[in-house]
Amino acid sequence: MKKKVKITPAIFPMPVLMIATYNEDGSVDVMNAAWGCAYDFKQIKLNISDTHKTAENIRRTGAFTVSLADVKHVKESDYLGIVSANGVKDKFEKTGLHAYPSELVNAPIIDEYPVCMECKALPFDGEYGVLGEIVNLTVDEDRFDENGKVDITKLGIICYDTFCHGYYTCGEKKVGQAFSDGKDIIKNG
Ligand SMILES: Cc1cc2nc3c(=O)[nH]c(=O)nc-3n(C[C@H](O)[C@H](O)[C@H](O)COP(=O)(O)O)c2cc1C
Repeated sequence: MKKKVKITPAIFPMPVLMIATYNEDGSVDVMNAAWGCAYDFKQIKLNISDTHKTAENIRRTGAFTVSLADVKHVKESDYLGIVSANGVKDKFEKTGLHAYPSELVNAPIIDEYPVCMECKALPFDGEYGVLGEIVNLTVDEDRFDENGKVDITKLGIICYDTFCHGYYTCGEKKVGQAFSDGKDIIKNG
């Protein structure tokens, strides 16, 4: 028997994306966003409420970066999702995290997170929609395997659950290979 539960987008995992922008005085703002996904091979789509400082910053600068939150920075990442730069001017400084400017877009890169997508904002219709073209993708150099590929098990990234609002570790153990494991069933007819 299956049990009915309160409706939520029951998609797990949801990402924990850290959206970094510049405020009008050049200080850094970062917000936590779980409602984000890949839109195209080089594009990312975010749902950002128009009332957030981040939305205003993206409209003004036309740019943002998206980092993947990790286990080492759960507290800071959550704080960045519950405090707004609209009310707390030194929101980012309070975390103790560090940022440096992207060379390609008018947005900051957060040093402590292992993966960062530097994005140019693209025009997008829709109430909360923010679309970004990824113009650069960087990964900390100690997160690669012996073949030079990004090793997901070394990223330590976290994900979000919409049922109970938990943060979970993500990618600790590889359990299969996409576009490959299913071939066994094809072979067996
Ligand atoms: C786990 C989590 C996920 C969130 N996801 C989103 C989201 O996808 N879109 C959004 O607009 N706000 C989201 N928020 C809320 C913003 O991060 C929050 O309102 C933040 O204070 C906005 O900061 P800003 O006003 O400085 O931009 C999320 C918060 C948390 C804790």
